[in-house]
Amino acid sequence: MIEWSESTIRSFRKTLLDWYDAHGRHLPWRRDHDPYHVWVSEIMLQQTQVNTVIPYYEHFMAEFPTVTDLANAPEAKLMKAWEGLGYYSRARNLQKAAKQIVNERGGQWPQTAEGLQELAGIGPYTAGAIASIAFNEPVPAVDGNAFRVFARLLEIDLDIAKPQTRPVFERVIGRIMSPDRPGDFNQAVMDLGASYMSAKNPDSAHSPVKAFNQAYLDGVEMQYPVKSKKPKPVKVAYYGLVIRHDDQFLMQKRPSDGLLANFWTFPLIAEDDVLAMSETPELVTEEERLSLLEKLVQQEFGLTVRVIPMGGKPVKHTFTHRQWLITLLSAEVKPDADLSFFPGKWLSSDELTRMALPKVQEKLLTRVHQIQ
Ligand code: ADE
Repeated sequence: MIEWSESTIRSFRKTLLDWYDAHGRHLPWRRDHDPYHVWVSEIMLQQTQVNTVIPYYEHFMAEFPTVTDLANAPEAKLMKAWEGLGYYSRARNLQKAAKQIVNERGGQWPQTAEGLQELAGIGPYTAGAIASIAFNEPVPAVDGNAFRVFARLLEIDLDIAKPQTRPVFERVIGRIMSPDRPGDFNQAVMDLGASYMSAKNPDSAHSPVKAFNQAYLDGVEMQYPVKSKKPKPVKVAYYGLVIRHDDQFLMQKRPSDGLLANFWTFPLIAEDDVLAMSETPELVTEEERLSLLEKLVQQEFGLTVRVIPMGGKPVKHTFTHRQWLITLLSAEVKPDADLSFFPGKWLSSDELTRMALPKVQEKLLTRVHQIQ
């Protein structure tokens, strides 16, 4: 890691902020410094690209104009507004934090990064972003962009996947950042990270901070940031049952804990549970699997089904630690079947489109519409 002198730091701040003033992106959440606007945009931007977020952000603000509206919103309306962004826990935390502000703090926002981290779903990055942009606190907002930008500028070779690395970056950036315009400084770093200093296609030759970019000057830019690989998600195979009657699907409500808690999906049966029905799982043929599956559904849900493969590759969906591979099967159930042991109900296509569905269910539904 290299160190900058005070005069280099002053010169860097000026170069970066001049560039931001002239070329910073005009984004809907930058129209003012309202903490509610900054916060919602930062949560949306956590896993989603700026261009995707813009229409969601505008729609969200039209539906829930203030933190009080968000605190009081019906959950279904909130989930619907979030549909397509994925990671619904972000939306749930957003409402939880809104309730904390409105009900426990008399509508007052904590005004420091430290205080903001007491709100649901707000970690060090988001706290830094809100505190600096909305409240002018000179604290860094260290996300993937900031890690990359400063790792390259200063040739910091610490592993950014390790938790002990963050405080080092926070200290380094804290010394460099503008004490007068901390919010603009942090957002300028974001814009630099999205353009001249992007992960895959940097254009450092034309970058406003080219002269400060040590990794570029040394020809080793793509070696930064250093990031150790996460273990691969564990693959889990499921069967997804498409049980249709007229315009309705028999849908399962997921348990209230675990992945996709409380969401509606096609009934999903783990392949391992099917194989466990046999005393010799390693010898089970494809056909036998299907009859074991029928037997399992009978035992577990009291439903008599006949299943037929729908063809096509399994539908894939990756969570943080798991990858689901779902083989779709078309299944028939008598329309007057007794559903008292089944955790779900018949839902029409219309009802499904009005509900918030988890991404994996959207993928399954898209596949079903392609096939049928
Ligand atoms: N990414 C994360 N936060 C951002 C912001 N405020 N502006 C642009 N991109 C961002």
